[in-house]
Amino acid sequence: MKSVVIQVSKLVHLIYVPELTILIAREAAKSNMLAWEEKALAEQISKSNACFALHKNRLVGYVGLAEWNAYVEISALIVKAEFRQKKIGSALVKKVIQLALEKFPSKEVIILPNKISSRISLKLGFQAKAKTEFAQEIWSACPNCKEIATFPDCHCQPMIFQKRLT
Ligand SMILES: CC(C)(COP(=O)(O)OP(=O)(O)OC[C@H]1O[C@@H](n2cnc3c(N)ncnc32)[C@H](O)[C@@H]1OP(=O)(O)O)[C@@H](O)C(=O)NCCC(=O)NCCS
Repeated sequence: MKSVVIQVSKLVHLIYVPELTILIAREAAKSNMLAWEEKALAEQISKSNACFALHKNRLVGYVGLAEWNAYVEISALIVKAEFRQKKIGSALVKKVIQLALEKFPSKEVIILPNKISSRISLKLGFQAKAKTEFAQEIWSACPNCKEIATFPDCHCQPMIFQKRLT
């Protein structure tokens, strides 16, 4: 969508935090993603560890980077319902991969996608790996997931970025 711009986050984007938190909470209630608190989103945005999709300065989509010791995780991916299936989610993930590679060259770029975002991730160069191949640290958010009782036989399929973007 030509009129949608993708921008690396800056302090000016903090105005979108309340709206973004509500959008994410709605999707979290449907078990599509984990919930994020305003404070954590604000920190991610302030550190320029996120990308926004904006249409005429209105919030359209968001994706962030969560820092682990060994990894940088693509997280909190969301596109407003009325803007979906227009490749905005794919554009956000592509931009945030570039950001991750630039800012965290020594870390593996990972994603814990759901069904739709796994489609995006596979197309952009991620590969699914067994949970046993990941360091324990990334499972610390699992107690907040409704599938925790079935871990590690849950639906979560972690992926690692395998190739450089062209
Ligand atoms: C996941 C999400 C960000 C995708 O955003 P989007 O802008 O619609 O994604 P894209 O338009 O780039 O679509 C990417 C691919 O997924 C497919 N897709 C998108 N929505 C789909 C749907 N509801 N059902 C089936 N396929 C879908 C597209 O057809 C496209 O496939 P293609 O590349 O083979 O053509 C968006 O659906 C969303 O915000 N969902 C709610 C939050 C969420 O689930 N976040 C992910 C947490 S891991």
